Amino acid sequence: MSLVDEVLSKLTLSHETAVKIKSLLQSEMVKGLERDSGSTLKMLPTYVHDIPNGTEEGDFLAIDLGGTNFRVLKISLKDRKYKQVEKKIELPLEIITDTQQTLFGHLADVVTEFIKDNKISATLPLGFTFSFPVKQRSLTSGLLITWTKKFTAEGAVGKDIVELLKAAFDEKQVKVDVVGLVNDTTGTMMACALTDFNCHVGVILGTGTNACYMEQIENIPKWTGDKNQKQVIINMEWGAFGDATSGDPQEAGALAEIRTEFDKELDVSSPNAGKQRYEKMISGMYLGELVRLVLVQLTKKGLIFNGLASDELLTRNVFDTSFISNVEDLSNSDHSKTREGLSKLKLNFASEDLDIVLKVCQAVSRRGARLAAAGVAAVVEKIKKVDDCVVAVDGSVFQKHPTFSGIMKETLNELLPGNKIQLKRAEDGSGRGAALVAAVAVRMKGKL
Ligand code: GLC
Repeated sequence: MSLVDEVLSKLTLSHETAVKIKSLLQSEMVKGLERDSGSTLKMLPTYVHDIPNGTEEGDFLAIDLGGTNFRVLKISLKDRKYKQVEKKIELPLEIITDTQQTLFGHLADVVTEFIKDNKISATLPLGFTFSFPVKQRSLTSGLLITWTKKFTAEGAVGKDIVELLKAAFDEKQVKVDVVGLVNDTTGTMMACALTDFNCHVGVILGTGTNACYMEQIENIPKWTGDKNQKQVIINMEWGAFGDATSGDPQEAGALAEIRTEFDKELDVSSPNAGKQRYEKMISGMYLGELVRLVLVQLTKKGLIFNGLASDELLTRNVFDTSFISNVEDLSNSDHSKTREGLSKLKLNFASEDLDIVLKVCQAVSRRGARLAAAGVAAVVEKIKKVDDCVVAVDGSVFQKHPTFSGIMKETLNELLPGNKIQLKRAEDGSGRGAALVAAVAVRMKGKL
């Protein structure tokens, strides 16, 4: 084995380990459904009990907060079809890391402008996609448990997110009628379920990663809501699988066997050390940084770039996931995109180095895709839908990375041979799904 391969072998996820992770995930799922603490999977009931039945119609507002962009949408629904107008803005880091007042005040400004620009005079029912762990108390209220991804806005953790949003709107004297608070996974599943009745799972593989699925109430001992309901969508918050439960970021956790020095380094220097460990191995916010950390080690060992690291290579988060997608793109067989990316980092590279960079990207993204597939296998097997299940998937990693979805499919076949699971690209699940949750809520209230 070459010295480079030796380093990369640490990122291999063997069949045996993938099987083990699948079953560990399943036992954490069961524990998380039993009670609020004691599992790294929060398994949060969403109060969404029904998927759309196709009769939903009308005009809705949707707002989507949780990734790189904030979006406001007006969605008109009729006959299972959507018409939509939307506004998308990138949220500056200063806004998402300041205070909740700054964050929600900014959102209220964007929505106010949208309402004005689109001449919306009625107070439309609003679906709010809020893609963070929330302990819901009803469909329209929920306490933020912790921020994840790049968000740290002070004063929001432990508070009712819908109240914070309403307070910000009140201040601008804009009336909103929040009828549904949803996670992006739920939105994605709902958007897909509008046309696929056998869609039982929603997955996000974007900036962060997470999944939700429809669970039977009888399997949720901790359920305190309406006992007459038969089922409810559970937001798993699977990104936290393998976390340190004691609060000590050094605690080994369930993923100890496969966490490499690269994962550990990424974790300790992140704003939420010890948390979201599964997410940190899979999602778009982190894959580029993992690649960088591997390249730095290879450089220090003198195996690449002539042993010379530029200041840029030593700078955290200089690669985003689009770099990995470009390197691995089939149209990049001449490595032109790799050259372009590396030149920006002022690195001196020989042509053999370009092959190594490709191998590093492949190793990191392959491990991520296999881990994500172990997650999907765990969920679908748990709900006994291996023979017929559409899994709705949204997010930039799944949509844009050239091989991620293919490797996931291949791994699913390896873990559940003969399965009939379909991974279905759900375009814009988080935006449309929020409108759909709003629509179902309005229908259930008999308002339509
Ligand atoms: C993070 C959030 C989760 C969200 C996921 C994808 O893991 O905690 O709520 O669904 O990112 O956006």
